[in-house]
Amino acid sequence: MTGRNQTVVSEFLLLGLPIEAEHRSLFCALFLAVYLSTVLGNLLIMVLICLDAHLHTPMYFFLSNLSFSDLCFSSVTMPKLLQNMQSQDPSIPYAGCLTQMYFFFFFGDLESFLLVAMAYDRYVAICFPLRYTTIMSPKLCLSLVVLCWLLTTLHAMLHTLLTARLCFCGDNVIPHFFCDLSALLKLSCSDTGVNVLVIFIIGGLIVVVPFLLILVSYALIFSSILKAPSAKGFCKAFSTCGSHLSVVSLFYGTVIALYLCPSAKNSTVKETVMAMMYTVVTPMLNPFIYSLRNRDMKGALGRFFFYCIAW
Ligand SMILES: *[C@@H]1O[C@H](CO)[C@@H](O)[C@H](O)[C@H]1NC(C)=O
Repeated sequence: MTGRNQTVVSEFLLLGLPIEAEHRSLFCALFLAVYLSTVLGNLLIMVLICLDAHLHTPMYFFLSNLSFSDLCFSSVTMPKLLQNMQSQDPSIPYAGCLTQMYFFFFFGDLESFLLVAMAYDRYVAICFPLRYTTIMSPKLCLSLVVLCWLLTTLHAMLHTLLTARLCFCGDNVIPHFFCDLSALLKLSCSDTGVNVLVIFIIGGLIVVVPFLLILVSYALIFSSILKAPSAKGFCKAFSTCGSHLSVVSLFYGTVIALYLCPSAKNSTVKETVMAMMYTVVTPMLNPFIYSLRNRDMKGALGRFFFYCIAW
C-alpha cells in the first residue's frame, strides 16, 4: 500500500438524494415522519403480538419477526440519510460504510426469507387445516426463523468480506443515499470480477428461489381451493393470504422492477427512487397492510387501546 502512488480511502461521501436545497427541509420533515411511522407501526405490531394471547399463532410470530426486520431494515439507512440532510456533512467512515452494507443485506434478505416462511405457513394452514397445529409446531417455527437468520448472515458476510478485500484509491463519492454495493464496486480500483460474479449468481438465487417458493405455495393453495370450491374456503383463504400476498407483491415488485427493467440514461436517479421504494416505503406499509386488512389484528388493537385507556 505504501510506496505506490495511491491514497487509501478512509471515508466515503454519500451524495444523498437529488433534491434541491430549497426543498431540503420539506423532504427532511417528510422522511422523518415516514421513519417515525415505520418505527412506531412496527413496534406496535410486535407489542400487540407479544401481549395478546389470541395472536400467539405461527402466522403472527412470523409477522412479528417481519416487523422486527422491517424496523431494522429502515433503521439501517434512514437515520444516516436524515442526519446527512440536516448536517450537510455527507461523510461516512469506511468501516461505517461496510457495516451499513452488511446490515442492509442482512435485513433485506431476512425479509425475503421470512416471506417464504409465511407462505409455507399459509400453505399448511389452508391445505392441511386439521394437521396445522401439529405440523407448524413451535419447534418448526423456531427452526425456520433460525434458518432464515443463518442464511442471511452467510449471504451478508459473503458480500461484506468480498467488498472488504477491494482497494479504493482516490474517488470516494457515492452517488446514492446509502452504501450501495454496486456503487462501491464502481468506485473500486481493484478487479471486481469475482464480486460481480457472486452478486450475479448468489444474488439471483437469493431473490429468485424465495420468489419461486412463494409462487409454488400459492399455486398449491389455489389448486386446493379450486378442487373443493366453497365460498367459505375462498373467504378464509382470501382473508388470511390477502395481506401476505400484498406484502409479497410490494416487496418483489420493487426488487424486480429495479433489477429486471432496462435502465434509462439517468439511471442514478431512477435507481435512487426505486431504492427509496423498498428501503423506505415497503417497511412503512407492511404494518398498515397487516393491521388494516386483518380482523384479528384490529381486534387486538381495539383491546390494547381499551386496556390502555382503562389503565
Ligand atoms: C420470531 O419467531 C419465533 C418463532 O416463532 C418466536 O419465538 C419469536 O418470538 C419471534 N421473534 C420476534 C422478535 O417476534
